[in-house]
Amino acid sequence: MAKFNIAVIPGDGIGPEVTESTIEVLKAVSKRSGHEFSFSEVMAGGIAIDTCGEPLPESSLTVAKESDAVLLGAVGGPKWDDLPGKSRPEAALLGLRKELALYANLRLAILFPELKSASPLRPDIVENGVDILIVRELTGGIYFGKRGLAPSDECLPDGTPKGLEAFDVETYSEAEIERILRVGFTSAMQRRKHVTVVDKANILETSRLWRKVTERVAPDYPEVAYEFMYVDNASMQLLRRPSSMDVIVTSNMFGDILSDEAGMITGSIGMLPSASLGTPGTPGMYEPVHGSAPDIAGKGIANPLATILSAALMLRYSLGLPEEGAKIEQAVRDVLSAGYRTADIVLNGETNILGTKEVTEKVIEAYEKL
Ligand code: IPM
Ligand code: MG
Repeated sequence: MAKFNIAVIPGDGIGPEVTESTIEVLKAVSKRSGHEFSFSEVMAGGIAIDTCGEPLPESSLTVAKESDAVLLGAVGGPKWDDLPGKSRPEAALLGLRKELALYANLRLAILFPELKSASPLRPDIVENGVDILIVRELTGGIYFGKRGLAPSDECLPDGTPKGLEAFDVETYSEAEIERILRVGFTSAMQRRKHVTVVDKANILETSRLWRKVTERVAPDYPEVAYEFMYVDNASMQLLRRPSSMDVIVTSNMFGDILSDEAGMITGSIGMLPSASLGTPGTPGMYEPVHGSAPDIAGKGIANPLATILSAALMLRYSLGLPEEGAKIEQAVRDVLSAGYRTADIVLNGETNILGTKEVTEKVIEAYEKL
């Protein structure tokens, strides 16, 4: 029986509620599987700013680095919105991604059959379901490139002084592109064997390098069909024919934007898990795609299912317990099939509305029956 150290970063808003639920689920996994989980809770985000004066204290980072996997709730909220970039709660996320070298972000957008009518798209567009894996590069590109802000001494053509001028640079190397492409193609092998590389190669030099590297790497995966798609077209095709998308591989910024769009297609951002992975053997980080939802924080009504599904990914990718991960996913589906809903995913006429704790209990009950 193995023993695993899990660093838990509840964060802000509904983060503490959804991580608490997920710990309960993981305790049930431990009880049943015999594997031991120890949880070390640390601070990051707004709460760390308020308590320690910085979004990502060194001590939190150390615990995360020494863990087998990190479970994160959410960070941020209106309280800290006026702080400058490096002092904001979001800086904790970027710091964790960079320091743990989590270059591959896997975001699933699955339209659960039980929640089909929650999709804002027409029923005929989603009748075959939606199951998209977005593989987003997470430690490069414009998020981590050179940036600056300085007064300009130039004018617009009409003579208006430019005033302040800012820049953010997008940089990608062949090696960074190759490793994320390999994550995408490898994932596609276990799915429907189709990769869409999303870029803006009609404009950006970085995108043209992405295409060149793709042409070199793709032959290593002869079973996988691939296509290139401009990001503007991809954002349209996601709405037109989402069922035809399998794996999307893309840059940090495009992945950020398209994953929100893909999430919305499923009608319930409260259901979507994510995994951020580095090289094998280093801790991965698992978090829901949704944010800290400060408007509903502390009310006991937050949907914990995205975090619970993120823990399922943790079992699969970081703890080597894929069967238990699959059972957790099945348990979530069983709870939905039985008609249980949290307030965010309730459909017209449904009355079985549960709070955070109650729906967690249902998931644990369903898991124990499997
Ligand atoms: C996300 C978020 C973050 C990002 C923010 C909070 C820094 O939008 O994880 O998608 O842009 O990566
Ligand atoms: Mg985002």
